[in-house]
Amino acid sequence: NQTMSIPQSGILLEHCKFGIFIEAMVNNCKDYSGLKDGCKKFVNSLESLQKEYPNEKLGSVISFNHNVWRSLAGNDSAPELKPFRQIGTAPATQRDMFIHIQSLRFDINFSLALAAIKAFGTSIKVAEEIHGFRWVDERDLSGFIDGTENPTGEKRPLFGLLPQTDKDAMGSYVLVQRYEHDLEKWGKISVEDQQQMIGRTKKDSVEIDPSKRNTTSHVSRVDLEENGVSLKIIRQSLPYGDASGVHGLFFIAYSAKLHSIEKQLESMFGVTDGKIDDIITGLSKPVTGSYYFAPSLTKLKSIF
Ligand code: HEM
Ligand code: MG
Repeated sequence: NQTMSIPQSGILLEHCKFGIFIEAMVNNCKDYSGLKDGCKKFVNSLESLQKEYPNEKLGSVISFNHNVWRSLAGNDSAPELKPFRQIGTAPATQRDMFIHIQSLRFDINFSLALAAIKAFGTSIKVAEEIHGFRWVDERDLSGFIDGTENPTGEKRPLFGLLPQTDKDAMGSYVLVQRYEHDLEKWGKISVEDQQQMIGRTKKDSVEIDPSKRNTTSHVSRVDLEENGVSLKIIRQSLPYGDASGVHGLFFIAYSAKLHSIEKQLESMFGVTDGKIDDIITGLSKPVTGSYYFAPSLTKLKSIF
């Protein structure tokens, strides 16, 4: 009789307002005791903040790259996990570990991020920390609503988490890619053409019929099926950046199958059929890229 696994709290959350994204390297790849201790302290801080602020949807996810996860959990767990490699013009900057924090409040997120830095101490070195925010109407900085076709409710665990029957029950594969937008270039494109490029209308996010939108439109590139099975993923991306400087979308996806994420990337970046996503041609470019695996909270606690 198997016990039920519990997923990490940040994976399925919907409509959070702020996010903090920390990618880090692990300092000593021969001794993981500091890292394990950090995970334990971090989860304690998370749980006490969740108790203190029960209505703010505070959630977090710790995930690990291929090497670190193999060392922590052995070769049987997360069979699809591998290092991110360059796909077309999408660069690989694979880091060791990713900490994702989100909630309705930036101040609480920041408290948890400080707790994370303290908990992990010298066991990690932060490579990049990005603060994301939900923009008006849940729009990306392109002006288009982001998340319309994200699975909701009970469909979320179906696409986002490995099933309770799996060896990696309630675990999830993760893609992290930071995109930098060129809003000046994007702003010179007519709204009509922008809609063709995204595949939905700008104001209300109504889908444009597949026969009437660009085959290179973003939706045509990523709305994929294989043998009648949808390759949907859970997106938790948020806009980030400075008004006067670098800004864009911090893209994150959680998925029960790494395969679904990778098929979408191959379709966007010309590997599938030579076609490049209109978002890449006209709006944005990825500047980082990593794959991780987020074990269930149950599994994470078992390796402390
Ligand atoms: C849909 C924006 C990157 C996967 C959308 C939509 C927008 C959007 C506006 C339509 C509304 C919605 O359904 O959410 C962006 C921007 C990106 C980006 C601005 C980067 C600059 C990516 C990447 C992936 C991806 C890298 C996958 C690896 C999806 C999926 C959908 C979607 C699966 C829903 C398709 C459907 O089933 O209709 N995105 N996206 N997006 N995007 Fe992206
Ligand atoms: Mg569709």
